[in-house]
Amino acid sequence: KASHEWLNQLPKVELHLHLEGSLEPELMFALAQRNNVELPFKSVEEVRAAYEFSNLQDFLDIYYQGANVLIHEQDFYDLTWAYLTKCKEQNVMHVEPFFDPQTHTDRGVAFRTVLNGIIRALKDGQEKLGISSELIMCFLRHLSEEEAFETLEMAEAYLDVIIGVGLDSSEQGHPPEKFSRVFAKARELGLKTVAHAGEEGPAEYVWTAINDLKVSRVDHGVRSIDDAKLMSHLAETRMPLTVCPLSNTKLCVFDDMSEHNILTMLEDGVCVTVNSDDPAYFGGYMTENFVALADALNLTETQAVSLVKNSIEASFANEQRKAEML
Ligand code: ADE
Ligand code: ZN
Repeated sequence: KASHEWLNQLPKVELHLHLEGSLEPELMFALAQRNNVELPFKSVEEVRAAYEFSNLQDFLDIYYQGANVLIHEQDFYDLTWAYLTKCKEQNVMHVEPFFDPQTHTDRGVAFRTVLNGIIRALKDGQEKLGISSELIMCFLRHLSEEEAFETLEMAEAYLDVIIGVGLDSSEQGHPPEKFSRVFAKARELGLKTVAHAGEEGPAEYVWTAINDLKVSRVDHGVRSIDDAKLMSHLAETRMPLTVCPLSNTKLCVFDDMSEHNILTMLEDGVCVTVNSDDPAYFGGYMTENFVALADALNLTETQAVSLVKNSIEASFANEQRKAEML
């Protein structure tokens, strides 16, 4: 296979990245040792071998377990900083990462510990690496509306460093409208909204994310292709989809990358973007996701540039930063 160095050189933007999903096995082991946390794995190789998933839930079980090594502010800093240095290597100029506070507060880690570590690293990323960023807080949709409200309350002291809220975790059986009232409150506070929808769940969840949660972007959204009316609506309104190719094949949303629909949607005028989701678990960061499309679907340079332009259009960066990136 060709090296596709041009795809590493291409300046990129990432809009769908879970910081907890960027925890590489090496850092997981180092933090386990530093914090005296027992891991159910003997080696980095054993961890990597466990990363075979047949669906979203398979992955989530392992992902939440991995997050147990994150305890102190410095751990969240190290996690975020490692991701940003990878972005630098891959010419990613702007990022809008997600974090899942409930994964940590439910284990007794304070909200401020999580947030302070992350924002200190994002600030260093801006100052030392020139990578701009906006932070998005996600609610875990398998938990209750009440718990989401409690989490939103904790975020109220940090509205200057959180640009929006999102919705992630187990999709099926947890439709967007379960969180309509929490999202309405978030919008009242001036937060933007996004939500995972149409990853494993039906196209209907994409409609309710748009109509009930009033999202600015849909995370994944690949199942929209099952609903022709929805596809035209997405194209007409330029509603962005943050698509994650390697995630989709690792979690068996598509059996093979050659079956992925991202380029079909691009040609249909949908504002699709390329992202890595949980790179430590799915086998690649931004460059590897673009390379996978080049290998399986003959991604052209024109298409690659359109995908990045879509990300800039879809981003929450201010107009000046958007203009600089174009
Ligand atoms: N949390 C981390 N990655 C996720 C994904 N791809 N879907 C839902 N929840 C997630
Ligand atoms: Zn995701």
